[in-house]
Amino acid sequence: MFQLDLVGIGMGNPDHLTQAAITALQSADLILVPHKGESKTLLSDLRMAICQKYLGSTSHVIGFEQPPRDPKIADYLTRVEAWHDGTAQIWSSLLKEHLPKGGRAALLIWGDPSLYDSSLRIADRLQTRFDQIDVSVYPGLTAIQLLTAAHRIRLNTLGAPVMISTGRQLVKNGFPNESDTLVVMLDGELAFQTLAPDPFDIWWGAYLGMKEEILIKGRLKDVSALISEQRVKARQKYGWIMDTYLLRRVLTSDH
Ligand SMILES: C[S@@+](CC[C@H](N)C(=O)[O-])C[C@H]1O[C@@H](n2cnc3c(N)ncnc32)[C@H](O)[C@@H]1O
Repeated sequence: MFQLDLVGIGMGNPDHLTQAAITALQSADLILVPHKGESKTLLSDLRMAICQKYLGSTSHVIGFEQPPRDPKIADYLTRVEAWHDGTAQIWSSLLKEHLPKGGRAALLIWGDPSLYDSSLRIADRLQTRFDQIDVSVYPGLTAIQLLTAAHRIRLNTLGAPVMISTGRQLVKNGFPNESDTLVVMLDGELAFQTLAPDPFDIWWGAYLGMKEEILIKGRLKDVSALISEQRVKARQKYGWIMDTYLLRRVLTSDH
């Protein structure tokens, strides 16, 4: 029998882990740490640093190369499905190789496993590959929580809904009518630049929770160019960037 723990680790700071997450890591017979290409070496190093901080020995911590999505598959959803299948194959081979008699494995998940993360979908695919595998989720701090805390802002306005979306969706659909607050993740295209010049405020954060953290806030029309410029510079400096931002329609009263 296998137990698979998907452990949310927050944004790489070892102090972000809950006690339950730490206990799950300490109980694991095998810990899998994904490496997602050379540009993300820093993220792999942060995951390893977490293991080193909380585990006496790291001999059962196994790094593995997470394959990129296949650019030859044109349709986005088909491409992602194929990637989930391929990754499930890798996870199941690693489990069978390192835990031939079954046992408890943990995967370190950036942020929280429920938010723009594939691990639960991949774990679902393991059900057909093993006689018995139980999956548990340990929540972690998300990029959104780090963003709102760093800027000391509320996620929602009074009694109002919040929408969370991607850069791709913002470009395609514009700012939603249903909400005055939109959090944008997975935006490689500076999607906020495509918004009509309605008055929006933006709170932007890159490398949240890390020593490289950059924060910019202000009226979108005033800080849009600065964010774009900082983004380019930071990406050149570190070789990669992860950023999240909250856009809010400018409100007339204090919420
Ligand atoms: C695949 S999603 C993972 C989200 C993660 N599961 C969470 O709970 O926040 C990757 C996106 O999360 C956001 N993100 C992750 N780490 C970040 C960081 N340190 N600073 C800013 N945004 C981050 C970015 O929007 C990035 O494109």
